[in-house]
Amino acid sequence: MLAWRAAFLFLIFQLVAMYSFEEIQKKVEAGIEGLHFPYPPKSLYEPIEYILSLGGKRIRPALVLMAYDLYRDDVERAMSPAMGLEVFHNFTLLHDDLMDEADMRRNRPTVHKVWNANTAILSGDAMLIAAYRLVGDTEPKYLKAVLDLFTQTALEICGGQQYDMEFESRMDVTEDEYMEMIRLKTAVLLACGLKMGAILSEAPAADVDNLYQFGINIGLAFQLQDDLLDVYGDPKTFGKNIGGDILCNKKTFLLINAFQRATGEQKAALEQWVARKDFDAAEKIAAVTGLYNALNLKELSEERMQQYYAEAMKNLASLSVGKEKRAELEKIASRLMNRQS
Ligand code: IPE
Ligand code: IPE
Ligand code: MG
Ligand code: MG
Ligand code: MG
Repeated sequence: MLAWRAAFLFLIFQLVAMYSFEEIQKKVEAGIEGLHFPYPPKSLYEPIEYILSLGGKRIRPALVLMAYDLYRDDVERAMSPAMGLEVFHNFTLLHDDLMDEADMRRNRPTVHKVWNANTAILSGDAMLIAAYRLVGDTEPKYLKAVLDLFTQTALEICGGQQYDMEFESRMDVTEDEYMEMIRLKTAVLLACGLKMGAILSEAPAADVDNLYQFGINIGLAFQLQDDLLDVYGDPKTFGKNIGGDILCNKKTFLLINAFQRATGEQKAALEQWVARKDFDAAEKIAAVTGLYNALNLKELSEERMQQYYAEAMKNLASLSVGKEKRAELEKIASRLMNRQS
């Protein structure tokens, strides 16, 4: 009788037990610490260890493990692909900071500042290759699905980055074009992480799709938030210089809507700041931020974020797993919505 009861309790525990987000984060951190790069040359690998050692939220590998953990509890099986996505993400940051001429990341000087542009390019390339090796370190039966997903995602991110650059010099970028650009440059990687975890744990096909869609919606909200923090964040917690997007005329949700809403003098001022080649950086940031404030664009952007968040919650609600299991992903999503870093 006692044995039956114990077995029953064990079964219930298996049905609801899963790692908390904090436990997953610890596993991710241990995984990152376990990564080793094959010195020499030191000048190729040191920048990689530098960027990886600066932390960050590690959200992408966490999503791989969280999605996996919804269906199976041996999350270690998904560890190598999870690490691959974090190494890949950090590779994109090396190249992105060079392209965006960004000096600070995670409260430290960026790789091309500590070393130089060529180092950021080549160490970045090495990270992309290392990422492939990690993602490919998967059981043969999942290999094709996982590599196809990763390759598709990586190409989409390049597409997103290309649009992001092109939009800097275009004045007619629409909100739809912006949403598609951020879907590509940011959302697909979060979605890929969730889908990868789901594939590796053999989740039902409908859940795989819902998790991917959840990642897209959270990812769109995530980039809207990133653009907001670029203007309104605290540099100490955000870890990047504030106003970088304004200086490069990035066509963010804020700038696109500023052009839509501004009239008369405000519109003329905005056009003048965007067109000017010679300007004082602090002055331009203050002026454009002032226009955003006057046009209530922070609120508009937050509303949009909420819409994607609500969609993301619907995706989670459609999963075949129990409420308790979904709760950790809900928690991550809500934390991301309120993040300061
Ligand atoms: C930064 O990503 C690049 C974007 C897609 C906005 P994160 O905000 O996830 O950066 P870290 O890894 O936590 O530093
Ligand atoms: C980054 O977008 C997207 C990728 C790195 C692929 P951002 O340029 O806004 O990212 P941050 O603000 O530099 O982190
Ligand atoms: Mg950038
Ligand atoms: Mg960028
Ligand atoms: Mg940004």
